[in-house]
Amino acid sequence: MEERKGFGTTFGFLMAAVGSAVGLGNIWGFPNKMGANGGFTFLVIYLILAALCGFIVMVGELALGRKTGRGVISTYKILTKRFKWLGWLGIIAPFLILSFYCALGGYCIKYVTVNLGNLFNAGFGTGGLGGAEVFGGLLTNQGESVIYGLIFVLITLLIVMCGVSNGIEKVCSVGMPALFILLVICIIRACTLGGNDFTVAVLQADGSTVQQVIHSSALDGLKYMFQPGYVTSTGYYEPAKALVDGAMVGAVAGVPVVKHVTEIPNFISILATAGGQMFFSLSLGMGIMITYGSYLDKKQNVEKNALVIVVCDTLIALMAGLAVMPSRFALDAAGAVGGPKLLFITMQNVFDKMGSIGPIFGILFYLLVVFAAISSSISLLEVIVAHFVDDARDAGKGDKRKPYSILAAIAAGVLCVLVCLDGLGENGIAPATLLNIEASGWSDCWLDFFDCVAEGILMPLGALLMCICIGWELGPQIVDDECCLEGNRFKSKAFFNVCVKYITPIIMILILAGQLDSFFG
Ligand code: PHE
Ligand code: NA
Repeated sequence: MEERKGFGTTFGFLMAAVGSAVGLGNIWGFPNKMGANGGFTFLVIYLILAALCGFIVMVGELALGRKTGRGVISTYKILTKRFKWLGWLGIIAPFLILSFYCALGGYCIKYVTVNLGNLFNAGFGTGGLGGAEVFGGLLTNQGESVIYGLIFVLITLLIVMCGVSNGIEKVCSVGMPALFILLVICIIRACTLGGNDFTVAVLQADGSTVQQVIHSSALDGLKYMFQPGYVTSTGYYEPAKALVDGAMVGAVAGVPVVKHVTEIPNFISILATAGGQMFFSLSLGMGIMITYGSYLDKKQNVEKNALVIVVCDTLIALMAGLAVMPSRFALDAAGAVGGPKLLFITMQNVFDKMGSIGPIFGILFYLLVVFAAISSSISLLEVIVAHFVDDARDAGKGDKRKPYSILAAIAAGVLCVLVCLDGLGENGIAPATLLNIEASGWSDCWLDFFDCVAEGILMPLGALLMCICIGWELGPQIVDDECCLEGNRFKSKAFFNVCVKYITPIIMILILAGQLDSFFG
């Protein structure tokens, strides 16, 4: 029988696993969710959850995968009686995430080319394409976004087709350190930007607006992230959406309307948002780490690797915040601070306003986002492909990696095209429009729909069931045994055992309930 080839080096494994974790979730998900959900409070809750849930589930997934040396479906089939079907979650969820991940990744490629264009066409000076122009074009010019989305799918496919050590490991070993360096450069630039005055129309409680000049600087961005309850007259603004009696308030005389955000969301909703973000960010609850763990050498220390992945992912999320928030507050203080607009409009405006070197930073920044997105999308495709490749090899059919990679990429590509055509709900094929219901949460656009089902339901559910499976069916000893192979020690054994049986599942249920409530409530 042919050999199942895994990662060549520890560094390679770590870069691949960190690469899966570090992605769009870190670069705009984390900063904007943190901002919209109590800032500093969100950060503290996020860190606690990462320790009590993220680390535990990470150790569990890596250990189960390495124990069986198989993909997610076979792992559950081999190990359990009651959870034999659980692995299928690990095939469905990645498809759903791939659909929008590739669409967004494609957008990012477009932004690299836009900044290249700005650099050469507009010359060394401002006057290149601004964010709203580019993004508006992508959403309504579907042909273009489909092409970029498919380019992204194709890159993902080519890497996965080359295999674990030749494709995934090689790309991540170069891409991740490069990403880190680009990020540091962007942080230095962002944090040293001077402040600016902005004319905005501030929405009053009675619905009227008052024009006001605000001064905003990089420092405000830092405060926004790290100062508990930072809500001041100059710092914390959110572009107004539907405010008074549901009426839309548009721009007044060409200046953006902003409203002061004064209320901090309640605890359960912060918990649910932080929890969902944490699972998504660490690529947990769908068998990616089971699959990557299955390629891990038996000599490796599972616990240590899990810790490094969790710490790196959290660090990069914070660093991304340091690159995005200060520049947004210094150069586009009235721009969107959350959602896709933060990455695709606000940040592009920032680079456009940076002067002659703007396009260069734009290229660096969007390139790093593309790296981050690709190292995640290859893990999503790999989790699907690994299962079928293993099955074929076990059945004596030889190495079927190429054909299965192509099939899976085609399926993901079809969903990606749907997301691109939909253009965030701009083009009349959003779920709400098709079903003729009022748009809300999951039904706004196909991206939200896939995101809600995967991140809101399937991932936390997968993680919850895995904890129950380890804690109550298999017993935590199975993880302990796997962590202690080849003379390794499992230092946090007692902590793990208590968490996996009681603490993690209880928190998971709260997170799941909060997520369901916010989607359908
Ligand atoms: N962790 C990735 C991010 O932060 C997204 C992802 C989720 C990747 C699930 C793989 C699996 O963007
Ligand atoms: Na992440």
